[in-house]
Amino acid sequence: MSKADVLLGLQWGDEGKGKIVDVLTPKYDIIARFQGGPNAGHTLEFNGIKHVLHTIPSGIFHPTALNVVGNGVVIDPVIFKKEVDALTALGVDVNKKLVISKRAHLILPTHRLIDAASEAAKGKNKIGSTLKGIGPTYMDKTGRNGLRVGDIEGADFKEKYNNLVEKHKQLLAFYNFEYNLSELEPAWFAAIDELKKLTFIDTEHYINDSIKKGKKILAEGAQGSLLDIDFGSYPFVTSSNTICAGACNGLGIAPNRVGNVIGIFKAYCTRVGSGPFPTELHDEVGEKIRQNGREFGSTTGRPRRCGWLDIPALKYAIEINGVTELMMMKADVLSDFENIEVCTHYMHKGQKIDYLPYSIEPSDVTPVYETVKGWNTDLTKLTSKEALPKELIDYIKYIEKLVEVPISIVSIGPDRTQTIFMK
Ligand code: GDP
Ligand code: IMO
Ligand code: MG
Repeated sequence: MSKADVLLGLQWGDEGKGKIVDVLTPKYDIIARFQGGPNAGHTLEFNGIKHVLHTIPSGIFHPTALNVVGNGVVIDPVIFKKEVDALTALGVDVNKKLVISKRAHLILPTHRLIDAASEAAKGKNKIGSTLKGIGPTYMDKTGRNGLRVGDIEGADFKEKYNNLVEKHKQLLAFYNFEYNLSELEPAWFAAIDELKKLTFIDTEHYINDSIKKGKKILAEGAQGSLLDIDFGSYPFVTSSNTICAGACNGLGIAPNRVGNVIGIFKAYCTRVGSGPFPTELHDEVGEKIRQNGREFGSTTGRPRRCGWLDIPALKYAIEINGVTELMMMKADVLSDFENIEVCTHYMHKGQKIDYLPYSIEPSDVTPVYETVKGWNTDLTKLTSKEALPKELIDYIKYIEKLVEVPISIVSIGPDRTQTIFMK
């Protein structure tokens, strides 16, 4: 019996998961998203095409792999329809290559409104949500009020929808939030009709049957471990389990059927939205990383906050995910730095620690840095491990020693081809 590999982000999202899933897809039969929804933006670049996926797995461009939207995902039919239309325009036969779990929950227009109302009410304490309705949809899921893809086919779908919307209206009244639902509903119901043309299945049976048949499965995470609802920098997190265990919940894969756990991280750190970020740079160095790395959100276009690599945070993510193999992204972004700083420890309550404590607010932790020599070479046209500059190899070895997990891929540009295999 084969096992399913899991690929996930180890930082605050946007590590480059989409690019790597696309690179790895030829090795797999099935690519399956297990959590999150259109808050994600996974970018793929190949043959001069740049494409951003939100809900659809990043294996969709390859000819053979089947893509699965698992039960742990939340779907906004309107955004989903746009994604399908954009793929169809590029010649992708989405219906042939995608199946959707009947257990996946639906994002209603009112979920988005509640997200906006809740954020507005929080004022300066806002989460910095992508405003896609993620939090309210997962709240209805755990509150046992949610609407699922499988409900669409039921005769009482409209009634269930109306009942839920009535609850939401009360909540919106509580927030004193102004809205015009009748402007949003026609597009939502039209998109539901489009969604119906796709294939809804019991993905947990399909996935487990495929495992039994020896098929190769890659579970694609969204967001990153430090945005996990349980282990992230709560409350500045998303509302799902972004860690490896989320692949078990979000696809119905038993823990003993998980194979390799592939952890993706940037050669530095970024974060978009609010919340603590110990190694954040508020100076021209941070700005240079942002410009070099084009660090602007794939979903919202917001500038991403930038800072140095945070080893205590990376070690924490590796531990809770059981990462077996690392992939380091965006090494090219640091190419014109004389020196690179790496946070190896934190000062916490007067002590030097190398783990992530309960709070990583600036009042609780101060990063301790070591300086590493930069490589000062353009990496973007290199094609083999042998061609990598010595200082980059040293940086890789230095990180591997600190975190005790091998780095199997180093990414040197956004394109599929700009990928160096270290094995
Ligand atoms: P994801 O959410 O983890 O899939 O990542 P995003 O797509 O949101 O953000 C990663 C961004 O970096 C995208 O614009 C990618 O095209 C880009 N990217 C990925 N890998 C590399 C790399 O190695 N170098 C550079 N310069 N850009 C990269
Ligand atoms: P991918 O999959 C980066 C952040 C938001 C906000 C917090 C909560 O592309 O890596 P939410 O809309 O989920 O309620 O927002 O989480 N966030 C992300 N940041 N990448 C993502 O996804 C994100 N999805 C959510 O900015 O701080
Ligand atoms: Mg992203």
